Amino acid sequence: MKNRVLTGDRPTGPMHLGHYVGSLENRVKLQREYDCFFIIADYQFLTDHLKETERTEYYINQVLLDWLSVGLSPEKSTFFIQSMIPEIAELTMYFSMLVTVARLQRNPTVKEEFKSTGLRAMSYGFLGYPVSQAADILIVRPNMVPVGDDNLPHVEQTREIARAFNGTFGEVFPVPEAIIGRVARLPGLDGRKMGTSTGNAIFLNDAPEEVKQKVNMAVTDPGRIRNTDKGHPDICNVYKYHLAFNKAEASNIERSCRHGRIGCVACKEKITQRVNAFLEPIREKRAFFEARPSIIREAIKEGNVRARKESRETINLVRKAMNFDYENLLKGEKIAA
Ligand code: TRP
Repeated sequence: MKNRVLTGDRPTGPMHLGHYVGSLENRVKLQREYDCFFIIADYQFLTDHLKETERTEYYINQVLLDWLSVGLSPEKSTFFIQSMIPEIAELTMYFSMLVTVARLQRNPTVKEEFKSTGLRAMSYGFLGYPVSQAADILIVRPNMVPVGDDNLPHVEQTREIARAFNGTFGEVFPVPEAIIGRVARLPGLDGRKMGTSTGNAIFLNDAPEEVKQKVNMAVTDPGRIRNTDKGHPDICNVYKYHLAFNKAEASNIERSCRHGRIGCVACKEKITQRVNAFLEPIREKRAFFEARPSIIREAIKEGNVRARKESRETINLVRKAMNFDYENLLKGEKIAA
């Protein structure tokens, strides 16, 4: 059987360069060889956007455009929406018995994200979203999960849940591996974690002028005042973008910066050009798909059918393993104690 991949995104807004180097780029490669499933996690959107549900449909469409524009293909891969596969909610229920509250409270990404939402109290659904994510993943029984490094704790919890289920009820699930992108974490332009709503990200659908303005605002080596001052690329955010998007010139730039032979303005101009050249074909593809909404409609319709079929099979195995298939009851047989 072909190796299987599952990964996905929360539809919280347009996707950015961090998503690209962390996970999207891997997906494009993986879909050539493997059976890939890509989920739009709309339940997970609710954890911290509960009062914005009128935006969900728009955001889902944006994520689909992001996927299509970087080259994910509904002909090669299966696109689907979490809340449209009821088996995921069912699996979440079973899994919720296999994880302790204390374990969820220790998940570093849950803690970090909760802090950044500014919410006063954590809902049961927020605390439990890694359990729901484990169900997103394991519902198709994949062996690989390409994610950014912030999602590693969730893949780890998924692996624990898979092992706990198998240990309790018998082998149903593979224990999937996380796959990390070539750049573990691309920082935001201000050096903090790149975020959708933190104002420090370059989005895949940014116009050339926006990219330019954002790069111009980026924080470089704060110790550099004059062009001829010796720079420290290791602490410069812009240099990290050169490493990610301008590999061929990066070592030259590094040397020039260290010797004070290239200033921040010139260095920023170079990366602006590179990033815009990288984004140009993505913008073109986005415009193409934006003008053809029926492609998106078909991708989701067909993807949901395919995901649902796989999910039914998994749930049947799960219910059988858990003695929740109630065969005798349904056959009308006498049931012994
Ligand atoms: N938590 C992921 C994110 O931060 C989104 C996601 C939801 C996901 N379900 C998933 C990722 C399953 C990988 C596999 O964007």
